[in-house]
Amino acid sequence: MFLYLFSRFGVRRVSIGVEALDKALEGGIPQGSWVVVTGEPGVGKSILCIHFAYAGLRAGDPVVYVTTEQEFRDVMEQARQLGMDLSQFSVFNIAWRKEPEELPEIVVVDIFGLLKVARQLTERAREESPEKVRRYAALSIDTLIEAINEAYEVLAVAKERGSPERHVRLVIDSMSAFWVDKPVMARKYSYQLKIATHRDNVTALLTSQYAPTTRQAFGFGLEHIADGVIHMWMDDVETVKEVRRWLIVKKMRMTAHATRAFRVKIESGRGLVLEPA
Ligand SMILES: Nc1ncnc2c1ncn2[C@@H]1O[C@H](COP(=O)(O)OP(=O)(O)OP(=O)(O)O)[C@@H](O)[C@H]1O
Ligand SMILES: [Mg+2]
Repeated sequence: MFLYLFSRFGVRRVSIGVEALDKALEGGIPQGSWVVVTGEPGVGKSILCIHFAYAGLRAGDPVVYVTTEQEFRDVMEQARQLGMDLSQFSVFNIAWRKEPEELPEIVVVDIFGLLKVARQLTERAREESPEKVRRYAALSIDTLIEAINEAYEVLAVAKERGSPERHVRLVIDSMSAFWVDKPVMARKYSYQLKIATHRDNVTALLTSQYAPTTRQAFGFGLEHIADGVIHMWMDDVETVKEVRRWLIVKKMRMTAHATRAFRVKIESGRGLVLEPA
């Protein structure tokens, strides 16, 4: 099995696991990049994340899977329906009390993990300044950064550049949850997150909701910070009277990517199927 594909310029490419999309990206997204998937509800963002995680696991990459939307077992069930069996890989949830006995293949950060980390951070703040305790929320950017770093520790992802560790995939589904009450902070938060969690050997896929009413990404800042933007949408259902989905690569650094939209279908047993428009 090929672990990575190399483009003609020697950039290491990370397969997303959807054949037509990988092809549209000269083999995949550049290793170490941060790619945002934007789009309104139901367009297939979470399913694209599942493909990305599954392709990685099959290639031997461990995955840090942050989900703010569902419990991980729901992600596994959705994956199973689409022909991707995640249950064959070992899972460790950072919310668990016990330490992992062996190196896991998937480290899950769900709302329970974020709650646990938020409690730990608040406890630490109490010890440092008992008279004025800072309380951390589960859905705050500081909590997310700490949780991802905890997941990196489990997988022994080092901070030093050039260290020869394995390639790791990071999924954050979704980022919008972290600025739900203050979308103007999106750019600052995204920047903070990237500074604190970016590694050369970590390739990240992050989702962001797009408000169909205003046509504004919910927290537009993330798209500027990202190395790549994959946008998904659907035609107005009242006009076309069906769910007709589309995907386009809006931006991908270091890549002569396809510039036309794809029709997207979601099929049981297969997941996302892309066809040229
Ligand atoms: N087994 C299946 N077969 C066919 N289509 C499916 C199947 N499972 C899910 N879908 C389709 O996928 C859609 C969900 O896609 P997904 O969860 O990726 O959307 P999303 O963009 O993440 O939405 P949100 O912003 O609400 O999280 C469902 O609404 C349904 O139309
Ligand atoms: Mg989703």
